[in-house]
Amino acid sequence: MSVFLPQSLDGDVAIVTGGGSGIGLEIAKQLADHGCRHVMILGRRENVLKEACRTIANSSYHFCDVRSYENCEKVVKSLASQHGFVSILINSAAGNFLAAANQISSNAFKTVIDIDLVGSFNMARACFQYLKLSPNGGKIVNISATLHLPATWWQVHASAAKSEIDSMTRSLALEWGKYAIRVNSLAPGPIADTPGMTKLAPAGSMKAAQIEKMVKEQIPVGRQGTKHDIAQFVVFLCSKSAEFVSGSNLICDGANQLYKRPFLPEKMVTAISKQLETKSRL
Ligand code: COA
Repeated sequence: MSVFLPQSLDGDVAIVTGGGSGIGLEIAKQLADHGCRHVMILGRRENVLKEACRTIANSSYHFCDVRSYENCEKVVKSLASQHGFVSILINSAAGNFLAAANQISSNAFKTVIDIDLVGSFNMARACFQYLKLSPNGGKIVNISATLHLPATWWQVHASAAKSEIDSMTRSLALEWGKYAIRVNSLAPGPIADTPGMTKLAPAGSMKAAQIEKMVKEQIPVGRQGTKHDIAQFVVFLCSKSAEFVSGSNLICDGANQLYKRPFLPEKMVTAISKQLETKSRL
């Protein structure tokens, strides 16, 4: 169930990189369900894209390795030639794996930077001239992460890439606002049933009860996120309701990145605090 009107994105033309699976696919579906005239999903696995496309209204798919600027330019141009403009770019393509900083090769580090950071820039740059022509304004949402806030074990490559994506988001918002292009980044927290959770979370090696306990303890709102949560946030960011939102690095993680163990159990707080107050008056 969506909280937004089905015509929230009426007439928009959207591109979603990494749209064949996971969060990207759910975003693509919801963009279509909220009025986009066309949604094009991009990825590197044609069979996955083809299957995904069947589940998204008014959609098409195209192979695109976002590391190649020529590849991005060609795909964007083909979509824009059919519609005259591009309204929405969602940079959701990403690569990640667990690796210790003293083990990861230079090429592995560069591969992730190239997919996540350079790929997002390539797509934004290739879309720029067509986003300017969008009747509803241009909207870019870069899917970031909370990895770099302040740091995460075993993901120096992806943390660096996502941190720079947040930075690039602010720079593009600054420079492209005058062309009616809004640029924001959105950092999902732990989202259930995604390649990210399967590949990266310790959940893979834990029993259901242990996962539930970890979630309850470390995500203050008490549950994992869903792909629906993230896609709804993207619909909001692309809608007129967010016309004054640009250059923001937004977080959708149930306060997970703020989590720290309480240094004092809650039931002891009042007693100890009162004891200290009484002593200080003596
Ligand atoms: N640990 C350490 N290094 C790894 C690795 C791992 N798990 N997986 C790949 N690498 C290294 C490779 O060894 C290679 O480095 P080398 O040349 O020094 O040996 C480098 O990374 C590139 O790997 P390659 O498989 O050629 O790259 P690719 O472009 O085919 O794949 C990845 C890119 C590695 C990011 C791949 O995991 C991918 O495509 N992921 C997309 C999906 C995904 O990760 N989703 C989760 C998002 S949260």
